[in-house]
Amino acid sequence: LQHLLTLDGLPRSIITQILDTAAPFTEMAEREVKKLPLLRGKSVFNLFFENSTRTRTTFEIAAKRLSADVINLNVSTSSTKKGETLLDTVDNLCAMQADMFVVRHESSGAPHLIAQHLENTGRDHIHVVNAGDGRHAHPTQGLLDMYTIRHYKKEFHNLTVAIVGDVLHSRVARSQIAALTTLGVPEVRVIGPKTLLPTDVEKMGVRYCPTMEEGLKDVDVVMMLRLQNERMNGALLPSPQEFFKVWGLTAEKLARAKPDAIVMHPGPMNRGVEIDSAVADGSQAVILPQVTFGIAVRMAVMSMLGSH
Ligand code: CP
Repeated sequence: LQHLLTLDGLPRSIITQILDTAAPFTEMAEREVKKLPLLRGKSVFNLFFENSTRTRTTFEIAAKRLSADVINLNVSTSSTKKGETLLDTVDNLCAMQADMFVVRHESSGAPHLIAQHLENTGRDHIHVVNAGDGRHAHPTQGLLDMYTIRHYKKEFHNLTVAIVGDVLHSRVARSQIAALTTLGVPEVRVIGPKTLLPTDVEKMGVRYCPTMEEGLKDVDVVMMLRLQNERMNGALLPSPQEFFKVWGLTAEKLARAKPDAIVMHPGPMNRGVEIDSAVADGSQAVILPQVTFGIAVRMAVMSMLGSH
């Protein structure tokens, strides 16, 4: 693994290897093991051109647990505000002996651009991890979601999974669908208003369900998505109130799922829009464990990249 840019086309064996590598890392805290030397002497640069709470922080924790030096570029006070280009910024950080870039950007393809630039300029010892680009991909979120599902459900081959909400603008949904189909989940359903689904949604290997009643029936896993208002250019259709009434996950709607179904959300949540607080804080929610597993999964990804 040279870079992690997308889960599209990533072989099942590599996804499984990442999940297997993450497993012992989740036990580190329990065993009071604070640090491993796997990235000792390496410098990891967090380049977040878009806001983040979970991803940026868990990448930092993960890199530090692997003994890397972590540098968080503060984009809002950096020279990108003076017009320096993305690739000039990267070149300058490479001059500071960067070994890995963790990149979040509002433009789809920005991490690919950096990876290609590094390869074209003979710096293929430097790795790039996509921490979410535009509406394209969020591969480590997809992986930590798979880790969470495997933790609670053990197998993938017997599951029915529903993804609910704004698939159209969601990089998370794209990475989830890629991983779920690669791992052999036999039925992945998407539920949401047609205005928030890609027109070719069924070509993504999923089944479109027009109603929550149909889509949630007997599912094992419910994956909620946030309305990505920042990518809608103000044209929010339907309104948050209308959305909640029809598509918001309430205890009543969740009762259609299997009794032991788990409820997931990548965060940040908009309570009362896509999910009711009673469900978000309820016994079936695994939303906070997802965050915790994110540390181990990101440790796995960075340690596998760093071993090349
Ligand atoms: N899930 C996720 O990407 O959250 P953040 O935007 O807080 O990183």
